[in-house]
Amino acid sequence: MTTALPSTPTPDDAALWHQGRLYLTDQRVLPERAEFLGYDQACDVADAIRAMVVRGAPAIGVAAAYGVVLAGRSAYIAAGEGWKQAIEADLGRLAASRPTAVNLFWAIRRMRARIAELDASDPTEALTAEAIAIHEEDRAANRRMGELGAELIQGPTEVITHCNAGAMATGGYGTALGVVRSAFAAGKIRRVYADETRPWMQGARLTAWELMHDGIPVTLQADCAAASLMAGGRVGWVIVGSDRIAANGDVANKIGTYGLAVMARHHGIKFMVAAPTSTVDMEVASGADIPIEERDPVELLSCGGRRIAPAGCEARNPVFDVTPAGLVDAIVTERGVVLDPTLEKMQALMA
Ligand code: MRU
Repeated sequence: MTTALPSTPTPDDAALWHQGRLYLTDQRVLPERAEFLGYDQACDVADAIRAMVVRGAPAIGVAAAYGVVLAGRSAYIAAGEGWKQAIEADLGRLAASRPTAVNLFWAIRRMRARIAELDASDPTEALTAEAIAIHEEDRAANRRMGELGAELIQGPTEVITHCNAGAMATGGYGTALGVVRSAFAAGKIRRVYADETRPWMQGARLTAWELMHDGIPVTLQADCAAASLMAGGRVGWVIVGSDRIAANGDVANKIGTYGLAVMARHHGIKFMVAAPTSTVDMEVASGADIPIEERDPVELLSCGGRRIAPAGCEARNPVFDVTPAGLVDAIVTERGVVLDPTLEKMQALMA
């Protein structure tokens, strides 16, 4: 029995594989419109990742895995038994789409490993099965992280989150918002403060939308409002996701996360990072080695299509920063929790 494609995407539908087509919820137009875009070609999936149709580290990995399926199918149609050579250009395009979230490279590496096991016949079915496995494993990992993260929280308390590390950023359920969902269900979270997250507004557009969809009390705040909220004494945890965690426990995440961690330490507030082990990159020794994406300054210089700075104004637009491991109280993964991360503890987790 084939299920129909939902007419309107829900927060759990960042990526959907349906009858040989990839559907991505167009996250650029949420919350105004919830609609799918359909993909048949890997190069279009690469463009969609670059253009932020789909974003959030694990969701980028899932989309790329399905992109490899499309690449394999096209390569077989074009080159028959020579598909393994023909697929390379598309794998390169997918890998070049965004630089920081390591889940992208992790997913392509895993799909490559499956490719290496295949013979010269049509790879579509085998690659589809592998991409679906990656998607389902991510969803399961998020559920597990939700349980483990919730156990750390002694509520009821209020929490701050930054950017969107929810279902929309993952295969489903969410990393940081997975912890929030589980902890809220356990009565440990009273309210979530969502930083709006300039300049793409993932907090305002996506996190607030997801939490309201689930009936979890959420208050939106400007990014610069976090410190005064922390000073008020009601916030127990900052909970965020990650795009790449280095071997020593340094955490790359959305720009502004580092500042939140500094402020949290100053106020005696705990700082939790929830991320699957596909986000851990043991090949980079520290955060200094993580490539930080710089996007077009135009994203900062205008808002809602209107220029908000003087013509000719220079701007910098790094979209991630690195929080040193020393400011992180807990890294929550599906394999377990690392408290006060160090190289040795990360090695034990990933062994
Ligand atoms: O630029 P984005 O929207 O892809 O950045 C997303 C983030 O920084 C998320 O916090 C991170 O990917 C974790 S998502 C589970």
